Amino acid sequence: METTVNNNDTFYYPSKEIVRHANIKNYEELYSQSIADREGFWAAEAKKLDWYKKWDKVVDDSKKPFYKWFTGGKINIIHNAIDRHLKSATRNKLAIIWEGEPGDLRTFSYHVLNREVSKFANILKSMGARKGEVITIYMPQIPELVIAMLACAKMGAIHSVVYGGFSYEALAERIADSQSRILITADGGFRRGKATHLKSIANEAMKRSGTIEVCITVKRTGEDCYMENDRDFWYQDLMNIPLECKDCGTEIMDAEDALFILYTSGTTGKPKGLVHTHGGYAVYTASTFRNVFDIKPEDRWWCAADPGWVTGHSYLVYGPLLNGATIMMYEGAPNHPYPNRWWQMVEKYGINILYTSPTAIRGLMRFGASWAQRHDLRSLRLLGSVGEPINPEAWKWYHEVIGRGKCPIMDTWWQTETGGFMITPLPIMPLKPGSCAKAYFGNEVGIVDDHGNEVKQGEEGNLVIKNPWPGMARTILHDPERYIEKYWEKYSDKGWYLAGDSARIDEDGYYWIIGRIDDVIKVSGYRLGSAEIESALVSHPAVAEAAAVGLPDDLRGNIIHATVILKEGKVANDKLAEELKNHVENEIGPIARPSHVEFTDALPKTRSGKIMRRVIKARALGLDTGDLTSLEE
Ligand code: WT7
Repeated sequence: METTVNNNDTFYYPSKEIVRHANIKNYEELYSQSIADREGFWAAEAKKLDWYKKWDKVVDDSKKPFYKWFTGGKINIIHNAIDRHLKSATRNKLAIIWEGEPGDLRTFSYHVLNREVSKFANILKSMGARKGEVITIYMPQIPELVIAMLACAKMGAIHSVVYGGFSYEALAERIADSQSRILITADGGFRRGKATHLKSIANEAMKRSGTIEVCITVKRTGEDCYMENDRDFWYQDLMNIPLECKDCGTEIMDAEDALFILYTSGTTGKPKGLVHTHGGYAVYTASTFRNVFDIKPEDRWWCAADPGWVTGHSYLVYGPLLNGATIMMYEGAPNHPYPNRWWQMVEKYGINILYTSPTAIRGLMRFGASWAQRHDLRSLRLLGSVGEPINPEAWKWYHEVIGRGKCPIMDTWWQTETGGFMITPLPIMPLKPGSCAKAYFGNEVGIVDDHGNEVKQGEEGNLVIKNPWPGMARTILHDPERYIEKYWEKYSDKGWYLAGDSARIDEDGYYWIIGRIDDVIKVSGYRLGSAEIESALVSHPAVAEAAAVGLPDDLRGNIIHATVILKEGKVANDKLAEELKNHVENEIGPIARPSHVEFTDALPKTRSGKIMRRVIKARALGLDTGDLTSLEE
């Protein structure tokens, strides 16, 4: 049964087979129940996990907006993601299928994953790791990245994964902010046929942050790297020590104990370390993954995101493992050595569900359908999209060419802050290309104006969430005031969460995300702050002042446009523009590299001295600059 398009060409309906297969058959009914009794809904979801001790209260709102979930409950996410599966047939099921870019293959059953995680957790403990401390992980996409995360969680440490594409500055800043004493890294990884040199970046970062006492390095590429006596250890050496490493007990945690922090960009130059917990986060990722991706025991699930981002945390690692699923993980670039690399793997491993970003889809679409068409993609049943709005053209290509017209696309809207899906279709829902459909259970979404009034249907407004949910970030590490200011202050009288996106709702109650309303720029789905790029620019000796804005781009969603004022006596030319691009790349990472650097003598500012990025953007696009009354002369 094919997905059918109805007459007015707006809805794509799921086939009977998809509906028959679905875990959830009636969204509207269950949604109304979940809103009428939110605590009841989440208690029922929480009961699907194993608790050492049941919670006393589902949600504690006595210190709003610092909500607490499942207070009094004792749990460890690892007990649910690994330990409990060892008592069933899932023990011998594959937890991870991993393929390296050069084509090497490694697989881990739940039994083997448990063995590796337990061993590494014991090693961490023997190296002095303590419950409640933050351990930084900086790695390529190799299985040890997942093992390291899980081992931290098992022994009660808090992991802070820093994306392997970040530079030493970005890494050093995150290590320093979290005061990590332990760093887990690798010599490098493979990307587009070349070895990256992560350990040398890590070395530089350790020099700058000054807090690291122990660094454990996984040997992946075998390239030479500097290892310091008494500080640096090879992962493989430690794992091969013939110790009695049988069991490492899973630490009993309070539901509200921190599981991880993850840094994300905001409106200031300093990244925010968002804190997620063992209890609520486990309940939320397990529930959303099971229901939205309709996971079945025989499924093979592939989330093509890097674990260094929240998508990888929630839906490469935790959501799938909590559901006992089989995860596909791939190290390298989608088009290496040829643009059929992904489709080859879908065929080879019989992948049933693929979750990726619009940028990746657009990138692969550029090479034409024939690369996908030479592979048997019939194993695919569902597809997913995340990170930025998907344009209908890319949606339709994904649906037709990759999904053969039969796989519903789950366009999931969420954020690092939300922990899991907030607005998303379910497989049974009719779909509209480019819309992320409806609110997930328990959530009430509003599209409101600056005063909190609902805007008219079809009009653009601020996206707010009107209720707490178990997967919500609890705070910003060391900065609770900023947590309030950024997310809760604007609608403090109403108690709503401000997402930072603008959106609209259509006549069928479907949500359409338009984009960020703050100075966050989404490049290829990666989140960057204008201020971060600007501070990287002004750290260059030739630069006096800088402004960075995002400009629309067909492939990457947005590209970075930098406007720069040079210091006295510095000469603007193409060579310097190139140098500045390289500088930003070195400071933050390749994803932050500006596409254009433009020189100017003055930046448009308000009388209070704030850069009017809106004006710069309009000018760069050759558009009307709009209302300039607040512009300083
Ligand atoms: C921002 C959050 C959530 C995992 C990856 C991104 C944008 C995210 C969608 C979507 C349109 C989306 C929003 C949001 N975004 N998903 N399906 N449609 N926009 O997490 O890095 O914290 O970024 O990504 O602008 O605010 P993040």
